[in-house]
Amino acid sequence: MIIAPSLLAANFARLANEVRRVNVSGADWLHLDIMDGHFVPNISFGPGVVRAIRPLTRLFLDVHLMCSNPQILLEPFAQAGAGQMNIHVELGEQVTPLLWKVKSLGKKVGLAINPPTSIAMVQPYLEQIDSLLIMTVNPGFGGQQFIHETLPKIQQAADWRRERKLNYRIGVDGGIDSQTAHECADAGADTFISGTTLFHSRNLAAAVKKMRSSVKKNSRVS
Ligand code: DX5
Ligand code: ZN
Repeated sequence: MIIAPSLLAANFARLANEVRRVNVSGADWLHLDIMDGHFVPNISFGPGVVRAIRPLTRLFLDVHLMCSNPQILLEPFAQAGAGQMNIHVELGEQVTPLLWKVKSLGKKVGLAINPPTSIAMVQPYLEQIDSLLIMTVNPGFGGQQFIHETLPKIQQAADWRRERKLNYRIGVDGGIDSQTAHECADAGADTFISGTTLFHSRNLAAAVKKMRSSVKKNSRVS
């Protein structure tokens, strides 16, 4: 299982300290939400910030591009130190060239899907991706409530993975706490992105540990 704190919920005035907190928390990846004010109604940060934090951590950097035109951002984020870049399936005909571009940069590639989008939309790409990121809130803001109606999409993604003998990760992003992480794990998720729950807890390491043990309880994830 992968637990990835989402930096969006960190205190931006103390970013270096927040990254160091993650370093000693036992988390596996650091999730970085990139918002362009167009694909989503919010703006977060860009490659310059990723470049600045890269030397502060050895963690794998998982970049989530909530952007209408990721084409122009792939190289800058690759150079800034991204390990994986997730692009949204809602971009339609841009998706295939974007996936190939990420791969050609030598990075892992993820495909993200919003709550209202049918899971059938990701089916043509499953063989090409390292990770499927199932949004469990509508993207744009941290601190939202988990949308339970997304659980069948996780199950479907897990069924396809088993039937087609593929090995993409199944990530969930938005409103993830110990309880919802457990529900998602039961549905087949193995990668848990969590902002508010982890960063807003006084003891990040304890929060990561609690989430990990809650996922393990009665679930198939190891
Ligand atoms: C939502 C982002 C998420 C967000 C999760 O647009 O993609 O990664 O940071 O934050 P929480 O855990 O607060 O819902
Ligand atoms: Zn995200």
